[in-house]
Amino acid sequence: MEKLYEGKAKIIYSGPEEGTYRVYYKDDATAFNGQKRAQIPGKGEINNRISSELFRYLAEHGIPTHFIRELSGREMLVRQVEIVPLEVIVRNRTAGTFSKRYGVEEGLSLPRPLVEFSLKNDALGDPLIYDEALLGLGLVGEAELGRIKGLALQINALLKDYFAQRNLELIDFKLEFGRLPDGSLVLADEISPDTMRLWEFGSQKKLDKDRFRRDLGGVEEAYREVLRRVIGGAA
Ligand code: C5P
Repeated sequence: MEKLYEGKAKIIYSGPEEGTYRVYYKDDATAFNGQKRAQIPGKGEINNRISSELFRYLAEHGIPTHFIRELSGREMLVRQVEIVPLEVIVRNRTAGTFSKRYGVEEGLSLPRPLVEFSLKNDALGDPLIYDEALLGLGLVGEAELGRIKGLALQINALLKDYFAQRNLELIDFKLEFGRLPDGSLVLADEISPDTMRLWEFGSQKKLDKDRFRRDLGGVEEAYREVLRRVIGGAA
């Protein structure tokens, strides 16, 4: 099958059926726009399994997604989409670049979840972009932007609840959306500890990619712990 695109954590191949892609999850980890790199043994399989479960859960709750089915431990079959070139970030508590940008400590509870957009562009370092610029540059239309925000908040509510039942607090996460040939929006890319911050309730232990970014150790174990709770179901 033809390799169409290789990203930092995944490879996209043409799929076995018309209108599909095969997504292969790699063990490669990168941070700070590719400046920090490593291999985390088993990460590809763990992330494929977590992502698959979360796409299934969201679809069961009415969220349109690109996910079709798992093909193997490291691969999923998805619908072909045109990716909207945005990183859609939802935050429930302050952390990461938000804390850095505004000079606030991490872990402050936000009075309501906020949705933030970055332009997907490695050469520019994925700059933050505001609604008027998105519309002005014609990257999305007004109705589509409203739909993206609405879906992002709905997904946040569903995922927050899902992880709370597994004793994990969803601090923030990144989504990407795609357009099907008929123009309708679906959730695309992945949802995994690479793209979310998850803190254990009580201990506040980080079970996500911050363990890699900040050299906290135990990266693989943390990802495995998230998978265990995802597979194990609600507590
Ligand atoms: O780094 P920052 O605080 O902006 O990240 C917010 C959330 O989005 C984190 O959960 C992070 O893992 C995720 N993210 C991502 N890919 C990016 C940037 C952020 O998955 N390129």
